[in-house]
Amino acid sequence: METILSIENLSVEYTVGKKIISAVRNVSLTLNKGDSLSIVGESGCGKSTLGLSMLNLLPKEARITGGKIIFHNQDILRFDKKEMQKIRGGKIGIVFQDPLSSLNPVIKILQQIRETLKIHRRDYSEEKIGKLLEAVQLNDTKRIKNSYPHQLSGGMRQRIMIAIAIASDPEILIADEPTTSLDVTIQKEILELIKKLIRELNLTVIFITHNFGIVSDLCNKIAVMYAGEIVEGGGISEILKNPRHPYTKALLSAIPKKDNLVKFNTIPGSVSDLASLPSGCKFNPRCPRKIAKCVQEDPQLECKENRFLRCFNP
Ligand SMILES: Nc1ncnc2c1ncn2[C@@H]1O[C@H](COP(=O)(O)OP(=O)(O)O)[C@@H](O)[C@H]1O
Ligand code: SF4
Ligand SMILES: [Mg+2]
Repeated sequence: METILSIENLSVEYTVGKKIISAVRNVSLTLNKGDSLSIVGESGCGKSTLGLSMLNLLPKEARITGGKIIFHNQDILRFDKKEMQKIRGGKIGIVFQDPLSSLNPVIKILQQIRETLKIHRRDYSEEKIGKLLEAVQLNDTKRIKNSYPHQLSGGMRQRIMIAIAIASDPEILIADEPTTSLDVTIQKEILELIKKLIRELNLTVIFITHNFGIVSDLCNKIAVMYAGEIVEGGGISEILKNPRHPYTKALLSAIPKKDNLVKFNTIPGSVSDLASLPSGCKFNPRCPRKIAKCVQEDPQLECKENRFLRCFNP
C-alpha cells in the first residue's frame, strides 16, 4: 500500500502569557492512499491543532517542538512559504467547521473559487466553476456565483468550501468538524456529499470530529485523541466492535441511541487543562479502571495485532 502522509512523533505547544499549552504530544499516524482516517476526541484534545500542523497553518502562538510530517517522502515542516502554498489548497484541501469565517465576506463566490483555481493553475472558466458547484450539488449556480457569502445558507456555504477544497484535485482532504455548525438535516446532507466525493474522486481523507456516531460508515481507520495524545487507534470496525481504551469506551457509550446527530451525551469530568497535565496517564482523573500505576507512570502507545493502545489496565 502506498503511504501518502506520515506523521512522526509530532509535538505542538502554544504559549499564552506564561502558560505553555501542550496541545499535541508525540503523535504518529500513517495515511495510505485511499484511507479515510477519523480523528476523534472531545473538544480541547488537540485535534484541530494536529490538522492545522499538516498544512503548516498554525497560528503564531503555536510552536512545533518536535517531529516530522512526511508527505510523499518530503518533510513539509521544512518547506518554505512558496512550497507550502503549493501543498495547501493544492495537494491537500481543507474544510473547516465554520464556513463563514473561512470565506471572504466582501468577495462574490465566483471570484473566490476562481482565485483558488488561478493559484493552482487550473482551468478557471465559468464552465469549470459551474461544474464544481454541480459536483457539490448546488443547482442554482448562476445565482450562487453572483452571491456574497452572507446571502447563502450555512449548508450552501459549506458546500462552497468543499467545492474550493476539491477545486485543485487534491490527493488528501482534511475535514475539521465540517458539520458541527449546521442543523441536523443539513449535517446529514453534507456527510452524504463528503461520502460521495470520497468515492468519486478517490480522495484520501482525514475526518476530524468530536462525534463518534458520524464516522462509523465514513472511515476505515480511527485515531482516538485524549489531551493531546493518541490513546487508541486502528481499523474502525475492530475498534467499534471491541473498544479497549477506557476513553474510547466512554466516547462510544456517549453516542446517542437514536439517529440524532445533535444530542451528544458527555463523559463525566472534563479534559485536563493542557497547561497543567496530571502525572501518569492523562485520563486517570476520569478513568473508572484506574490503578495505582496509572498515577505514577506514563503509559506508552503500544501496537498489538494492528491495534494501538495506551493503557495499563484496559
Ligand atoms: N491559538 C491558540 N492559542 C492558545 N491556545 C490554543 C490555540 N488554539 C488552541 N489552543 C489550545 O490548544 C488545545 C487544543 O485545542 P484544539 O487543537 O483546538 O482542540 P480540538 O480541536 O480537539 O478542540 C486547547 O487547550 C486549546 O485551548
Ligand atoms: S492507564 Fe490507567 S488511568 Fe489510563 S486509561 Fe488505562 S486504566 Fe485508565
Ligand atoms: Mg477543533
